Amino acid sequence: MEEKIHELIETTKSKALSSQSIRELTDLKVEILGKSGALTGILRGLKDLSPDLRPAMGKIVNEAREKIEAFIALRLSELEREELDKKLSKERIDISIDKNIPLGKLHPLNVIKRKAIDFFVSMGFMVSDSPEIETTYYNFDMLNIPPDHPARELQDTFFITDKILLRTQTSAGQIRTMEKVKPPIKMISPGRVFRSDEADATHTPCFHQLEGLVVDKGITMCDLKGILSSFAKHFFDKDTTIRFRPSYFPFTEPSVEVDVSCVHCGGKGCNVCKGTGFIEILGAGMVNRRVLSGCGIDPDVYTGFAFGMGLDRITAIIHGINDARVPFEGDVRFLKQF
Ligand code: DAH
Repeated sequence: MEEKIHELIETTKSKALSSQSIRELTDLKVEILGKSGALTGILRGLKDLSPDLRPAMGKIVNEAREKIEAFIALRLSELEREELDKKLSKERIDISIDKNIPLGKLHPLNVIKRKAIDFFVSMGFMVSDSPEIETTYYNFDMLNIPPDHPARELQDTFFITDKILLRTQTSAGQIRTMEKVKPPIKMISPGRVFRSDEADATHTPCFHQLEGLVVDKGITMCDLKGILSSFAKHFFDKDTTIRFRPSYFPFTEPSVEVDVSCVHCGGKGCNVCKGTGFIEILGAGMVNRRVLSGCGIDPDVYTGFAFGMGLDRITAIIHGINDARVPFEGDVRFLKQF
């Protein structure tokens, strides 16, 4: 009987190790270890042995069972691994397969924004981010915009609650910086702003600004003019000139509106500049004393200038885009032109 068991172990081992599928292996297992399997039959036959032989033979049969179970389990794990590998290689996604997926490209507005950021960073400005969902405190109060100011009207501002809104200007970022950073400060803050305007050829409810702020001892309007003049030459053309026109902003005193000489006609007058030779690109001024002291900066020691430029407008001027809505439409035909 011992010999028979040994033979069974050997044949089962070779069958198991050469089996080619989980199914084949399971069938083999049933054939040997199942209810009417070969080894089970031998186990049953033990009752016919003399009682003194039974324990030793019982031990041999149990050991045989353990061995058979072990190599069946070994082969099973090999087969499972092979099957998984096969499945994985069949289901592999070849990401290089379709070479005709059209590639997108940077939106012209982002190209302009990056170019502007590069310019100011090269002049030593730091870039500061500030939230698009703002409080009335940062968007208005701290910028010296009183509660009855028309800019606070519902028709201009997307209010979320009476104290929370979508920022109407990146100027809110000036305050956040001045609260955190001690002068000298040189920062820009580019980003989206929102006004509840009906979209038309010259208005969109979302547009983009780039705010700039410099605060230090002895800063004057000359510094503002110098920086903006270099910016205009770098950005448009080396012959571009700038012009300051007196204006009013609650957070600057004095305030100016800044024009650049028309990039299309060089200042002679054309339909782009409506015959004036100049195009307005930003608002600026010397930071109002009230704004400085509100942020804990002594206006008798420090002075500063600030500016806020419209990036959409600059993009439109450079590329001759005559409808403000088009850049927002996500139409690939628009992007392909640049
Ligand atoms: N915040 C102004 C606007 O949205 C633009 C502006 C004007 C920003 C003058 C400034 C500034 O920092 O000094 O129209």
